[in-house]
Amino acid sequence: MNISGNTIFIPGSTSGIGLALALALRARGNTVIIGGRRTELLERIAAEHPGIDTVRIDTTDAESIGSAAKEVLARHPDLNVLVTMSGIMRIEDWHQPESFLASAESVITTNVLGPIRLIAAFIEHLRARPDATIVTVSSGLAFTPLKITPSYNASKAAIHMLSESIRLQLADTNVKITELVPPSVRTSLLPGHEDNEHAVPLDEFVAEAVALLESQPDAKEIQVERVKFLRYGEARGDYDQVVETVNASDPHGK
Ligand SMILES: NC(=O)c1ccc[n+]([C@@H]2O[C@H](COP(=O)([O-])OP(=O)(O)OC[C@H]3O[C@@H](n4cnc5c(N)ncnc54)[C@H](OP(=O)(O)O)[C@@H]3O)[C@@H](O)[C@H]2O)c1
Repeated sequence: MNISGNTIFIPGSTSGIGLALALALRARGNTVIIGGRRTELLERIAAEHPGIDTVRIDTTDAESIGSAAKEVLARHPDLNVLVTMSGIMRIEDWHQPESFLASAESVITTNVLGPIRLIAAFIEHLRARPDATIVTVSSGLAFTPLKITPSYNASKAAIHMLSESIRLQLADTNVKITELVPPSVRTSLLPGHEDNEHAVPLDEFVAEAVALLESQPDAKEIQVERVKFLRYGEARGDYDQVVETVNASDPHGK
């Protein structure tokens, strides 16, 4: 995607990476629509950043996705970029169903079914635009497992393969698929993670990601330097060591 001149909807941008990315893209000359469930944050963001539009959306709810999509497209018929940012991460213990099943269902509904339904709601509109992009959001944990978050890791691996697959199908359209692959970044994705010294500071991550979006407008994946350790363990041949290092050094990490 071009770095400027787009109209971009980011469900999952009331906080963390989504909000920082939304503000950075707005500063680069894009129209940005922020989405999420927390209406108090939506109101505060709209008040603090005149010109940014906001829409309430719960991406676990098909009806909410449908009505938010209608609202966004009615107000922004030139929308050409969808960023499927909404996500949750949960620590699970898979020894007995009580300590993982409900969590696993929530994680898969939010992190996998949510993006699928969002793409379903916008694909026909995006196909009619001369130049459109769907930015999916996976994780370094799509490629290296963190022991304490099995469903999360699996959900992000699913997003990686979904991105790879639909990129092939949509090659005959004007819709590009770009996968953002964050490393561990300091946000509130897990309690206390904002202060995780093993994680990349949020502003540093977003600045590097936006610079990559600008310098590589046709990139399949946006990979900041810090994610390559996780992303390429298998290809380098040091996968077992990467898994060991990640699980030893970063008990709460992403
Ligand atoms: N931080 C990391 O280390 C890291 C690493 C790799 C990938 N990621 C991915 O980056 C994305 C953003 O996470 P973050 O780290 O920035 O954490 P965050 O601050 O917790 O942001 C998560 C965002 O998702 C939204 N969200 C969650 N459930 C939702 C739902 N049902 N409907 C609509 N929106 C929902 C939240 O908004 P509301 O609560 O207002 O709905 C919030 O805006 C996630 O997909 C995450 O998996 C993060």
